[in-house]
Amino acid sequence: MYYKFDVVIVGSGGAGLMAAMQLPQASVAVLTKLYPTRSHTGAAQGGVAAALGNREEDHWKWHMYDTVKGGDYLVDQPAAEILAREAIDAVYELEHRGLPFNRTEDGRIDQRRFGGHTRNFGEAPVRRSCYAADRTGHMILQTMYQNAIKNQVRFFNEYLVLDLLINDGQACGVVALEIRTGEIHTFHAKAVLFATGGYGRAWRVTSNAFACMGDGMSIAYRRGIPLEDMEMYQFHPTGIYKVGVLLSEAARGEGAKLLNGKGQYFMERYMPTLKDLAPRDIVSRCIVQEIKEGRGVDGEDYVLLDVRHLGAQKIAEKLPDITDFARNYLGVEPITEPVPIQPTAHYAMGGIPTDIDARVVIDKHWTPFPGFYAAGEVACVSVHGANRLGTNSLVDLIVFGRRAGKHMAKFITETNYAPLPSEPDGFARELVEHLSRSTGRESAARIRSALQNEMDDKVFVERSESSLRHALDTIEGLQDAYKKVELQDKGKLFNTEMVEALELGFLLDCAEATIHGALARTESRGAHYRLDYPRRDDVNWLKHTLAYKGTKAHDVRLDYKDVILINDPLFQPKERKY
Ligand code: FUM
Repeated sequence: MYYKFDVVIVGSGGAGLMAAMQLPQASVAVLTKLYPTRSHTGAAQGGVAAALGNREEDHWKWHMYDTVKGGDYLVDQPAAEILAREAIDAVYELEHRGLPFNRTEDGRIDQRRFGGHTRNFGEAPVRRSCYAADRTGHMILQTMYQNAIKNQVRFFNEYLVLDLLINDGQACGVVALEIRTGEIHTFHAKAVLFATGGYGRAWRVTSNAFACMGDGMSIAYRRGIPLEDMEMYQFHPTGIYKVGVLLSEAARGEGAKLLNGKGQYFMERYMPTLKDLAPRDIVSRCIVQEIKEGRGVDGEDYVLLDVRHLGAQKIAEKLPDITDFARNYLGVEPITEPVPIQPTAHYAMGGIPTDIDARVVIDKHWTPFPGFYAAGEVACVSVHGANRLGTNSLVDLIVFGRRAGKHMAKFITETNYAPLPSEPDGFARELVEHLSRSTGRESAARIRSALQNEMDDKVFVERSESSLRHALDTIEGLQDAYKKVELQDKGKLFNTEMVEALELGFLLDCAEATIHGALARTESRGAHYRLDYPRRDDVNWLKHTLAYKGTKAHDVRLDYKDVILINDPLFQPKERKY
C-alpha cells in the first residue's frame, strides 16, 4: 500500500506523542511496532525533572548546572539550557492535558529528590522530580495517547519500520512491514520524525523492554547518517539482580540506601555529600568496586537496596510498583528484607545527532538533513553528555518532542513533498526476502544471546582496550553469522521470528558503533570508564564522537564534533570526583 501524510512519526513513546500533539492542523501518522501504550516510556518510574520549586527553592539554572556537570561536561550547553528552562512549561503542559501528578498538601505538583539534582550549584540534594507514584512514564503515555486520539492522529500499530526514504538529500518517507499481514507499505511524507527509543537489548541484563532494539539508530546509520557518542551508555545502579528490571532511583530519593555484603551503607564512604544520590555512573562504579573488593553479597556479583527503614506506609504510597517487582521477580519482601540489585543497561546518551529543534544533522559542521527529525532516546541533542541524570530522560522527551512537533508544523507549510525515489520499497523488501529465502542454518536467537553476553562481559561499567578489542572481534563474527540466519517460520502472517531477526540486525549495528567509539576514546568520562585510561582528558577528548557506517562490512569511520560551551565560568569543565 501507498500512504501520504504531512508528517510520519515513527515510535509512539513520549517523544513521538508529544510531537504529534503539536500538529493539530496537519495529517499525522504514528507508526509503532507495538500498541502505543506499550511503548517503553511506560517503564519510566521515578519522575520528570523541572525546577518548579514547589517543595523548596529551585531554579532552572541550577538544573542546567547539574545536567552539565552530571554529564561530565560532554553536554552541549545551549541545549542543556533549553532543557532546563523549557522543562517547566512542558510539565505544566502535561498537567493541563490531564496528567495525574502526585500533589503537595496545597494541591501543587509534588516533587522528590533524584540523583545528581542539587540546589545552589551542588550544595545539597533538591526536590526537582515531578512524579506520579513510581509510574510516571505510564501516566505520561496514557495522557498523551488520549490527546493524540483527540487530535485525530492516525495510528498504524504493529508496523515495523525498515527504511528511511530519501530523495536528493531530503527525507520523504519510510517503508514499513505490517507485522499482522507481512505486507510492505510505503509512507510518503514531507517530514519524518524518528522517536524509536534506545537499544538496551544489546546487553543481557537490562531495564529495557524487548522492543528496545535500536531500530531508528540503525536505519539512519545504514543511510549514511552518523551516530553520535554511542560509547556513552548508561548503567542504572539498581536493576533487579539477574533480571535487570529497574528499581527506581526514586527509592533512594525517598531515603533508601545501598548496602554491601558486610552490612555497610557504602556510598557514604565514596561520596560523603550526595551519598546514595550521586550521579548514576558514579554509583554504578562504586557498586562494581565493592563487588571487586569482595564486598558483594556472599561473594556474588550483587549488593542490596534497603528500603526497610522507610516503613510500610511510605513504601505503599510512594513506591508501590517497584516493591511489587521485588516480590514478583525475586520473592523478596522489601518491607522486611533488602533487595538484591546490580547495575543494569539502561539508557543511550548517544544516538542520531540533532540540533535544538530536533532536526537531524549529519556532520561536524551541523549540516541539517531537511525533513528528517529525531527526538527522545534515539536522538543525541547532547543534553546528557557522558551521563544522564535520573528523570532527565522524560524531560528530554517532552521538551525536544515538543520542539520537533513545533518545527515540523512550520516546515510542512513551507515545503512541498519531495518525490519518492524509484523503487522506494526495494531495500526493505530485500531485507525481508533475504531472510525468507536464506538456508544458512544460523539462528538469530543464538547470535542475540552471544551478543548480549559479550556486551555484558566486555562493554560494561568498566572497559579497557583488551575487553573492547575482544568485543569487536566477537561482534564482527556475529555480523558475519547474521548473514546466514535462517528462519523456521516461512509464513507471512505475524511472523515474529522474522521481526526478531530484523531487529537483531539493528542491534548489531548499534553495538558496532558503540564499541568503535569506546575503543577510540582513550579517556574516562561519565559512563565511559576505561581501566587503562582512568582520567578525563579535556585537552584531547572534550569532543563528540560521530560514527559513520562504511560501505564494506566492518568498516566504520569516526569523526569528531566540538562540544558547545557557553561563556560563563560556572559552566567550564571542572574535575568531577570519583
Ligand atoms: O530510576 C528511575 O526511576 C529512572 C529514571 C530515569 O532513568 O530517568
